Amino acid sequence: MGLYAGTALQHEFPTLDREGLVYLDSAATSQTPRSVIDAMTAYYETTRSSVHRGVYPLAVEATERFEGGREKAASWLRWDPECTIFTRNATEAINAVAYTWGRANIVPGDRIVLTEMEHHSNLVPWQVLAAEKGAVLEWVPIDDEGILDLTVLDGLLQGGDVKVVAVGHVSNVMGTINPVAEIVARAHAKGAVVVIDGTQAVPQIPVDLSDIGADFYAWTAHKAYGPTGIGILHGRRELLEAMPPWLAGGHMVGRVTKERTTWAELPHKFEAGTSAIAEGVGLGAAVDFIRAIGIEDIRAHERELVAYGLERLAEVPGITLHGPRDADHRGAVISFALDHAHPHDVAEILGREGVCIRAGHHCTQVLMARLGVGATSRASFAIHNTREDVDALVEGLASVQKVFG
Ligand SMILES: Cc1ncc(COP(=O)(O)O)c(C=O)c1O
Repeated sequence: MGLYAGTALQHEFPTLDREGLVYLDSAATSQTPRSVIDAMTAYYETTRSSVHRGVYPLAVEATERFEGGREKAASWLRWDPECTIFTRNATEAINAVAYTWGRANIVPGDRIVLTEMEHHSNLVPWQVLAAEKGAVLEWVPIDDEGILDLTVLDGLLQGGDVKVVAVGHVSNVMGTINPVAEIVARAHAKGAVVVIDGTQAVPQIPVDLSDIGADFYAWTAHKAYGPTGIGILHGRRELLEAMPPWLAGGHMVGRVTKERTTWAELPHKFEAGTSAIAEGVGLGAAVDFIRAIGIEDIRAHERELVAYGLERLAEVPGITLHGPRDADHRGAVISFALDHAHPHDVAEILGREGVCIRAGHHCTQVLMARLGVGATSRASFAIHNTREDVDALVEGLASVQKVFG
């Protein structure tokens, strides 16, 4: 396809054709490339039918397109497609683990280890589970640059009663890239199961699941140039096979009698009801889009933008930048605070100038408490962003400062 980063790519994203739009909110949701929209439209226009059950050619083709999405995602991230389960989003993927594996395996007094930087999606399900089962939540703290203190993890693991370590691969606020393979190795040595929230990692950095070796890895398509409404849970086969299903009904069954029901094989056991078919097709097209550019090139482009962003933003008077100072250790997101201006006001004034950033707690209220703030302003970058977008942000902040003196 010959795609390459920056300006040339902006035209791949129809929404970016809007006049004067500087989209710096891909950590919330990415823009959708034309190829993904086309793949989904083609399903609706030429292949519309249900998947899995039909034997006529139209249904077989629809099934191939839909299952092709699963195979593309699995082979890209190096995981077994049968152990690659479609969910609605990352939140549902993590809830599936907490509800099924968690309820079958957690007993009173077990410890569940989280980090202070977790998104609520990888925090609240564990809190709910712990409350229900009488388990104890423990926290791995961060230092002032937003780096995890793994000596605390080691100390917790020494106790021998840690059942789960749940950790984000890349922070959606500070961008911190966590050493997940290392965390998995340490947790496995002490018999703990590791659940990784890979939502911000998959679109930004090379991810090799076979190498990381986690027990569960969750992500969501809409932050990875794919459609909304579909996410993925990759799981270790032995665990998935032993886990009870969590939603029951059509498609997830083997045989149903008046007395009992047996479960379908993986991955279908965890995919009750009619699947998000067009979304599965779109997810496959998003993987094709990323692979055509190359995740290494995406990372290199975004790393360079973050380094430039950190340098330019540091020039803004009264700014505090959160997270690692070295672009090598962070993903494509920069959270900041501006003296005398509330993050919501910053985002609103920038929005009037066409610069779209996010303000709020970013579903990380435990992290906000650790940073001592109620909210941050957050700019995040994707493959279509350029240095000019960073310049527009910095210029916009000058307008904000004029308003707030
Ligand atoms: C790190 C992280 N985890 C999980 C999620 C939840 O993603 P979804 O809403 O698609 O389930 C987000 C989205 O903001 C995120 O940034």
